[in-house]
Amino acid sequence: MAPSILAADFSRLADEIHQVEQAGADWIHCDVMDGHFVDNISFGPAIVGFVRKQTKLPLDVHLMIEHADHYVPRFVDAGANSITVHVEPEAKHDVGKTLRQIRDAKCRVGLTLNPETDFKLIEPFLDKIDMLLVMTVHPGFGGQKFRVDQMPKLKRAKSINDRIDIEVDGGINADTARVSIQNGANVLVAGTSIFKTKDYAKAIRDLRGS
Ligand code: DX5
Ligand code: ZN
Repeated sequence: MAPSILAADFSRLADEIHQVEQAGADWIHCDVMDGHFVDNISFGPAIVGFVRKQTKLPLDVHLMIEHADHYVPRFVDAGANSITVHVEPEAKHDVGKTLRQIRDAKCRVGLTLNPETDFKLIEPFLDKIDMLLVMTVHPGFGGQKFRVDQMPKLKRAKSINDRIDIEVDGGINADTARVSIQNGANVLVAGTSIFKTKDYAKAIRDLRGS
């Protein structure tokens, strides 16, 4: 379970992180948006560094930015444990080179594709990553509706490389978590269905189906 702090109350971010950690979170998902690759601006390395000081949980950094290769060193220095970059040409970086850069920095290597992106774009890299993130919403905002039409991508990835983690992100709640797990997901990102509730521990149990 990787709660997405995009939905957290930033006026008391330290408390929010401590609470989801006590509630059973496994990782903390950090959504970095630059207002170019996606139509929204969130936060950068400084906030990831702040999160790093609040918890020992792995930081799962999702870069929705152009020129990720230029910024990877700053997120490594901020304390990221895994860094996930986008495969789309609009992300304006040499994907293979950036994946090696993340690997050489001793971070877990993640790659992701938007719902509109053909799976073919990802296939050449499936043996070079630790985690595939299948976006189940078009990135840029929390609180969007889950796209069940993305499930075949999970199965396809598993059939090609069953050693990598399969992460889903966007519109994950107790029902869509079930569907995602049935299709091969083992990492669930959730923002609204955790931080917009009163009981984080119950929310995480419901998402786990326990
Ligand atoms: C969207 C982000 C997601 C988002 C998830 O671009 O990548 O991580 O914060 O939020 P919910 O769970 O509310 O869809
Ligand atoms: Zn995300």
